[in-house]
Amino acid sequence: MRQKIVAGNWKMSTTFSDAMVLAGQIKESVEDLHELEIVICPPFVWIYPIFELFEKGPSNLKLGAQNMYFVDEGQYTGEISPLMLKNLCQYVILGHSERRSHFHESNDLINDKIQAALRADLKPIVCVGEWRKIPGSYAADDVRRQLKASLENVPPNQLSQIVIVYEPVWAAGTHNAASGAYAAEIIKVLRRELEGLYGQEASQQIRILYGGSVTSENILEFIRQEGIDGALVGGASLKAREFIKICELTAEYSKS
Ligand code: PGA
Repeated sequence: MRQKIVAGNWKMSTTFSDAMVLAGQIKESVEDLHELEIVICPPFVWIYPIFELFEKGPSNLKLGAQNMYFVDEGQYTGEISPLMLKNLCQYVILGHSERRSHFHESNDLINDKIQAALRADLKPIVCVGEWRKIPGSYAADDVRRQLKASLENVPPNQLSQIVIVYEPVWAAGTHNAASGAYAAEIIKVLRRELEGLYGQEASQQIRILYGGSVTSENILEFIRQEGIDGALVGGASLKAREFIKICELTAEYSKS
């Protein structure tokens, strides 16, 4: 059984004190949700203090970065390397649509980052998704190609370290989530693509999440679908009670 994940992407939000209060509230509330892996992805500068806060557990609460560069060290002003994150985070979000659009990240660059993350024992949370609302079969084809290019040359034995997020760009930050059935259809196509590339067993092990305007109101619609293993949550991860509720509902569903 694939363990469900709820990941919170704080993006470029939170002051230091907001971040510490939010992280503290989450830490206090998720200890009993053993069924679930919870990944908090704060801005880089809050990673270390939150790492210290989470150091003694709970063990189902993990830290992730929102991005990184693919070189281990050198003359890359302003960048953060895999080696810097390695002992602080377990996860790193790569290929988020905001990186692809505002910072012109290509599938090739994302592929380099995925390989670098794996070399550093960081688990990549790889985002893919279509840009506009287009008919489902076109969207599936678009996203399938994005996934294939992003994962090029990733060895099969590393696949289980990767988490994929299907996040239609039109649904991210818009309060206009996709329907559970639509997301499940695209995710089915992605799993089939992974099966073609890596075989059936590997494709069944990899976790695929949905992202895009997830809230406590709609989370069950997604996780009830076969093949959806959790959610990447943006806006709703900044409100402690809302995020904790999403985690509780997901954990509760996993038990059933
Ligand atoms: P949202 O953001 O939940 O606010 O739509 C999700 C994301 O962009 O990762």
